[in-house]
Amino acid sequence: MDRYAVIGYPVAHSKSPFIHAAFARQTGQKLSYEAVEIAPAALTETLQQMHAEPYAGLNVTLPHKVAVAALCEAVSERARLAGAVNTLVRTATGWSGDNTDGAGFVHDLQVNLGVAIAGKRVLLLGAGGAARGLIAPILAERPAELAVSNRNPWKPEELAEQFKALGPIVPRTHLSLKGDRYDLVINATSAGHANTMPRLPGQILAEGGVCYDLSYGASAEPFCAWARTQGAALQADGLGMLVEQAAAAFELWRGVRPHTAPVLAALRTPEPCGSGITHRLPPKPVHPNRIGQD
Ligand SMILES: NC(=O)c1ccc[n+]([C@@H]2O[C@H](COP(=O)([O-])OP(=O)(O)OC[C@H]3O[C@@H](n4cnc5c(N)ncnc54)[C@H](OP(=O)(O)O)[C@@H]3O)[C@@H](O)[C@H]2O)c1
Repeated sequence: MDRYAVIGYPVAHSKSPFIHAAFARQTGQKLSYEAVEIAPAALTETLQQMHAEPYAGLNVTLPHKVAVAALCEAVSERARLAGAVNTLVRTATGWSGDNTDGAGFVHDLQVNLGVAIAGKRVLLLGAGGAARGLIAPILAERPAELAVSNRNPWKPEELAEQFKALGPIVPRTHLSLKGDRYDLVINATSAGHANTMPRLPGQILAEGGVCYDLSYGASAEPFCAWARTQGAALQADGLGMLVEQAAAAFELWRGVRPHTAPVLAALRTPEPCGSGITHRLPPKPVHPNRIGQD
């Protein structure tokens, strides 16, 4: 039986074991999947051990996404652009790194939620690892504008320079957004983990605008509360992105794309999104014997 795991520090909170166990049952794949906590100082040695054991593939979560990229024998173009790796595929001689976060976001937004990026004015809040992973897939969808705004004002400038071959990025600061209007506002900051959100001027969301927070659970509540005050036509948290990036990783490993809707519905049970955050996927009742019995 092929072995897989998510590595992080800490990692006990990770929903990846639940998600991949559900994917495996659904697709009839024989595999094991566990959560492995690795302290940063032990990362290099532990990755070598896990290759030797052998693990067939790994998911990578905080704080290892950037450090793991430097330990791969090869990385995909999207992982190189993101500067971070969230998926490792075992090769005979080492680890091949990829990043499915951006693809997971675009899939959740466009396919699950039915929100097109093309022709929209898009505002990306944050310039950390997650934001970097979103830039290339967003530009590929041809938005009318992609503005990046961050607390540290230099980072959007650097991103605009780094990604200029893929399309224009308008570097902004949060306060300089006053007077502008965006059709899609994406929160890719980690501010929600401190129960807060970036300080933004009022009325930057265009009529019919959509708000998407990469965080989920309680961490998504400050931004989603702000979205409600702005009259967002749709607000969504990042749970759909989490499931979609996992599905993309599963497909890299197993060559089969799992259905994500029942897994997302199971994650939202029994409290759909837990906080009144809306998600356009209809909540589907999930039989307790079908999913979530690991
Ligand atoms: N749903 C998913 O599948 C998924 C996948 C990946 C990440 N995420 C989520 O995305 C978020 C960002 O992750 P990351 O890996 O990009 O983290 P990161 O690399 O540490 O970057 C954090 C970003 O948040 C900003 N920030 C932090 N606290 C802030 C505050 N109080 N006010 C304003 N800005 C603040 C930082 O600004 P400065 O540059 O000024 O410090 C930086 O831009 C996290 O909540 C993470 O859980 C979700």
